[in-house]
Amino acid sequence: MSVLRSIVRGVGSYLPAHIMTNADLTKKVATTDDWIVQRTGIRERRIAATGEMTSDLGLAAAKAALANAGMGADAIDLIVLATSTPDQTFPATAVTIQAELGITRGAAFDMQAVCSGFVFALATADQFLRSGDFRCALVIGAETFSRIIDWNDRGTCVLFGDGAGAVVLEAATQPGTREDRGVLITRLRSDGRHRAKLYVDGGPSSTGTVGHLRMEGREVFRHAVGMITDVIEDAFAATGYNAGDIDWFVPHQANRRIILGSAHKLGIADDKIVVTVDRHGNTSAASIPLALAEATSDGRIKPGNLVLLEAMGGGFTWGSALVRW
Ligand code: ACO
Repeated sequence: MSVLRSIVRGVGSYLPAHIMTNADLTKKVATTDDWIVQRTGIRERRIAATGEMTSDLGLAAAKAALANAGMGADAIDLIVLATSTPDQTFPATAVTIQAELGITRGAAFDMQAVCSGFVFALATADQFLRSGDFRCALVIGAETFSRIIDWNDRGTCVLFGDGAGAVVLEAATQPGTREDRGVLITRLRSDGRHRAKLYVDGGPSSTGTVGHLRMEGREVFRHAVGMITDVIEDAFAATGYNAGDIDWFVPHQANRRIILGSAHKLGIADDKIVVTVDRHGNTSAASIPLALAEATSDGRIKPGNLVLLEAMGGGFTWGSALVRW
């Protein structure tokens, strides 16, 4: 029986021009390149220029994704932007991008699930497309985490970077078989009991300030692999796919050790993992679409490939998605 699915039509990304290396960080805090590389796999990250905002990054990624899809902005009737670093408390940064693209129909809104934001946004857009409420969506992950980092805290400032990525999703009828293209399943989880382990110590209704990122790194690390692999096993159980069926594993890029730990526990081979954390650092909601843009533009991910996405982050939130390209 035929079904409506959300098909990926295009992918795009944008990285700010300024590269901050680990050597640059040793001039700010007591750290070393060795420490950062061994614990995280990160060698450098991008930092947005003064005046360059999350909407600027997201807009550039959205334009690149539309160009990659061969579509105009007039095709889009839904924008879901995942970010924890919006331009303003309100309106949603998504409506700025909507206006900059010249779109005056449909809906645009932000979604906040920290590092899991892109998977949550993808799942949300997928629900709207499969329901028939909207036809063509831009799903964007865009972050300027450099603005909420405490640059005196060596435990966190070495981990994060700025960037944006976007995908164009279009509703299309598929045969309803195992070979269907599009988003095949998403699985989302959260558990607010862990909210104090990774948070920002400010906000409109608490301090009236933006605040800075605070993290119990070891605690996040301790939960990460188990939560990630659980929510992937859920997606496998619901679809009948297994690790051996996966062509590409595109994880949230938080830390090389978390990525490899999750892949090895699931039995996914190293040569199927897309890794960008060495050059991007942790760009939170932007990391998955940034990695997707890299692996599609260099020809690794091809039409027909089965792609596994996962993320885990503040909240805690975590989620997985299986997408046939
Ligand atoms: N350079 C040098 N030393 C450092 C640095 C640094 N940048 N940061 C911390 N240290 C020191 C600590 O002060 C501590 O010193 P001490 O033993 O004298 O007290 C020592 O290194 C060990 O500190 P830990 O925090 O225990 O180090 P750990 O091995 O846990 O590594 C890290 C820290 C990399 C943050 C790790 O816990 C981690 O990766 N956690 C996951 C966090 C993460 O990825 N968060 C991203 C957001 S959530 C997500 O996206 C999944």
